[in-house]
Amino acid sequence: MLFDTHAHYDDRRFDPDRDELLRSLPEHGVGLVLNPGCDLESSLKAVDYAERYPHVYAAVGYHPENIEGLTDAQVSAGLEEIEALARHPKVHAIGEIGLDYYWCKDPQERKRQQELFRAQMSMAGRLGLPVIVHDRDAHLDCLTIVEQYPKVRGVFHCYAGSVETAERLLALGYYLSFTGVLTFQNAKKASEVVRRVPLDRLMVETDSPYMAPEPYRGKRNSSLYVYRMAEAIAEIKGVPYEEVARATTENGKRLFGIPEGAGEDAV
Ligand code: NI
Repeated sequence: MLFDTHAHYDDRRFDPDRDELLRSLPEHGVGLVLNPGCDLESSLKAVDYAERYPHVYAAVGYHPENIEGLTDAQVSAGLEEIEALARHPKVHAIGEIGLDYYWCKDPQERKRQQELFRAQMSMAGRLGLPVIVHDRDAHLDCLTIVEQYPKVRGVFHCYAGSVETAERLLALGYYLSFTGVLTFQNAKKASEVVRRVPLDRLMVETDSPYMAPEPYRGKRNSSLYVYRMAEAIAEIKGVPYEEVARATTENGKRLFGIPEGAGEDAV
């Protein structure tokens, strides 16, 4: 049984078959899915799917890129609604939150991203929830911020940092999760991190509908392909696939506080 710890089923590419696909996951061996939000609207949808499907859990939050064009007042009103939504029994994390400097070069806008990230780290601390961190080209600033909240645990999703940063995150109690990037020919850096990080700190994710793994690269991704990340980790670490499947599922359940027995009707 596998746990896809990061998939965006609110994406409109799932409009034609979302219900059928989500319903069918357990019979394809995907016993658990965590759907993060990226703003208020997608967070509401994540909660809706979590209410509808027993094997789906939700995270709620503002992605750093999604505050562009919003006033500070709109952002703080949105954060209040996110915090109320986070008390829903099937919301098990705050995410995805973090920093994205790839598209954002303006120092003022980067500062706004940092403020938003800090506000949501504090929120996670208040609510006792883990965080799902998006870090694109902002490794040092992300690390600096998470170090300021030592009581908060979480996962760096689609991890793209160095082995050194990984070691500092592990020391803080964080997990690392990997997408289809791990299956690409040129994934040397990610492979090296996977080789060095203990199996009890790794998780698998699709980041659907993005980042489809080989041999599905370029197609719409879905949780049906999450087995490819477990295969890649098994190959890199030289351990049996079943062991990776079991460990990554247990890790996700431990971090996100998923109840014992959840997802076990998956084949
Ligand atoms: Ni994502």
